[in-house]
Amino acid sequence: MSRILLTGATGQVGQELVRSLAPIGDVIACDRARLNLAAPDTLKQTIYELQPDVIVNAAAYTAVDKAEQEPELANTINGIAPKILAECCKETGASLIHISTDYVFDGTKNTPYLEIDTPNPIGAYAKSKHLGEVGIQDVLGDRLNQYMILRTSWVYGVYGAGNFVKTMLRVGSSREELRVVTDQVGSPTWAADLAGAIAGFTVRALNASTTPPAAPIGGIYHVTNTGVISWYDFAVAIFEEAEALGYPLTVQRVVPITTDEYPLPAPRPAYSVLSGKKTAALLGDSLPYWRQSLRRMLADLQAAVPGHS
Ligand SMILES: NC(=O)c1ccc[n+]([C@@H]2O[C@H](COP(=O)([O-])OP(=O)(O)OC[C@H]3O[C@@H](n4cnc5c(N)ncnc54)[C@H](OP(=O)(O)O)[C@@H]3O)[C@@H](O)[C@H]2O)c1
Repeated sequence: MSRILLTGATGQVGQELVRSLAPIGDVIACDRARLNLAAPDTLKQTIYELQPDVIVNAAAYTAVDKAEQEPELANTINGIAPKILAECCKETGASLIHISTDYVFDGTKNTPYLEIDTPNPIGAYAKSKHLGEVGIQDVLGDRLNQYMILRTSWVYGVYGAGNFVKTMLRVGSSREELRVVTDQVGSPTWAADLAGAIAGFTVRALNASTTPPAAPIGGIYHVTNTGVISWYDFAVAIFEEAEALGYPLTVQRVVPITTDEYPLPAPRPAYSVLSGKKTAALLGDSLPYWRQSLRRMLADLQAAVPGHS
């Protein structure tokens, strides 16, 4: 059985990965107490002891706005630590699967970003995640079957403290009117779909480590649900789907506003759409359409948290 070391096992994607990776091998699910990415000097010893065949790095500093106040910590966790994970992989022969973000782009394009497009991160979190990508490529760039960098976007799920869907459900059950930005567009991605796709990447990485494929399969991939919407349209869809499922809502109106009307500490890319063609070619299929996944997540959440019905 392959040994799969999972970091960030307590996160919204990490908790889904604990389940989706289980059929593939022995999952060594690490929380920050076992593997602390803020203490990069401690990582190598633990990893050598655990002897993984593949490392799936779902841990990250994800507080986008707070990162503006503590960029060094964000850089350590998102930038320096992934490079050390890559060094461990280089030394041991393990593969590395690392999750990255649409935020590595500045959002000035108006057609879906390709894996070969040049990043231009515009905030502290975005810069720290880009640093991680660069560090991994510095170490493993010439070993194209040994690493995969999976960029995703607008992630939400049943697990984890806060995400856009859970926030909308919370405020939509206490207020009548909500204001949501309409000039940022992207692809909402259900953590369960993402984790399923990551399991597919993991199988291919493990196979490639024993039987190198004719063409290298490593490198960068864009992994999101299909379809494009604004945060405003997403909020409206959340309420429509939640209402159909019987969620107790008080919201009567969702008002479209501009980013300028809702200032936040960290800048966000206006256009965050990632092309999924390369991923579909490798996995044999695209991820589902976003609305179908939203519906399934809301039903799962309702089943998991009885108070939502
Ligand atoms: N959420 C999004 O919209 C989004 C969009 C694009 C890309 N991504 C990327 O997707 C990946 C997963 O994100 P997520 O949404 O699952 O985030 P999340 O729910 O915030 O989970 C982050 C995980 O990282 C762990 N972590 C934080 N600091 C750590 C440290 N110093 N050492 C070890 N573990 C640490 C957390 O542990 P604790 O539970 O102890 O805090 C948690 O398990 C990340 O790489 C993120 O950058 C997310």
